Amino acid sequence: MSGPEAFNKHFSTAFGADRWTALLPALRAPTRHAALINPFCEPAVVRDGLAHSSGTLTRIPWLGVTAIASSATDNAHPFPHPERDVHNLWSYYCMDLASMMAVEALGVQKDDDVLDMCAAPGGKSLNVMYRLFIPGDSMPHGSLTANEPSSDRRLRLRDVLHSHVPKSVHAQLNVTAMDGAAFARGHRRFTKVLIDAPCSSERHVLRDAAELAKWTPARAKSAAKRQEKLLWSGLSVLVPGGTLVYATCSLSEVENDGVVKKVLARIAKKRKQSKAAKRRGQGEVEDEDDEDEDDEWDDGSDWWNHVKISVTRRQWPLGEPTKYGWLVLPDTADGWGPLYFCVLKCT
Ligand SMILES: C[S@@+](CC[C@H](N)C(=O)[O-])C[C@H]1O[C@@H](n2cnc3c(N)ncnc32)[C@H](O)[C@@H]1O
Repeated sequence: MSGPEAFNKHFSTAFGADRWTALLPALRAPTRHAALINPFCEPAVVRDGLAHSSGTLTRIPWLGVTAIASSATDNAHPFPHPERDVHNLWSYYCMDLASMMAVEALGVQKDDDVLDMCAAPGGKSLNVMYRLFIPGDSMPHGSLTANEPSSDRRLRLRDVLHSHVPKSVHAQLNVTAMDGAAFARGHRRFTKVLIDAPCSSERHVLRDAAELAKWTPARAKSAAKRQEKLLWSGLSVLVPGGTLVYATCSLSEVENDGVVKKVLARIAKKRKQSKAAKRRGQGEVEDEDDEDEDDEWDDGSDWWNHVKISVTRRQWPLGEPTKYGWLVLPDTADGWGPLYFCVLKCT
């Protein structure tokens, strides 16, 4: 079965008919935007832009960056187009508040080495930068590697990054072009990793008749396969003590908690096999099943044997808990989302 009927039936079963009846119109409504204020921009330029916004403006008090929301919830773009200051830096960047929550969950500190594995167009990277690089600091401490394999999207990413921070911090920014799954193969390590994974993006599907007509549940399953590899790769480059946030804008459990569950199970399986091999006095780890999958995933290293990966959770003012993470859905979160994120710690 495919198309709009299959889509409705699938998500009505997943969420329950009552919830889906409320969620569907919320997903069809325009995406809500908050303004992420650029701390490097001249404050007067920021103030001028905000003065021409619609609705009552409120600063989100529980974020470590300055983000402004408008009460004009019926208007997807309550803020006028940002302006550039005398140094050519944009005043703010408009994005979903739920996306800022995912970066907040990463807990970036000034001296972190951060990998944003799937970074374009760059909203989450900007959130990271404003935590790493503080205006007035003569010497930036941390670094950001913003990775994006698509060349068009990478151009946009570089432009977004360079047009929001002064030249003095560009040296701390590294834009790379890798397949995220390839970081596992001996790349440098990071204290924080953000994976805002490519996903089946049902809100986008709902607005695109051609995409909706060809939708099947297989869309989420194939996205999940790619996402598992990205998560595996991201975990492999975390230093002990590091944190990884895995995020998607998908509604599908299989792309959210399902991916986390699969990767945690794979780590547990690898460790078990390794122990069994040691008991038998062999160095080699033999895999009884999933051989094809292992060929694709394995980088030859046994990072999973030297660290412990665990899920950590906290309460947020918006959204709802899932088994491993947190889900922000627009019907219950004032129009923000959808966004799923899960925080994994490496010890
Ligand atoms: C959800 S978007 C990221 C949005 C971005 N984090 C932001 O906040 O602006 C996912 C991105 O992953 C990129 N991508 C697709 N396949 C990838 C892969 N194998 N490795 C890394 N990134 C990938 C896509 O081109 C897309 O730009």
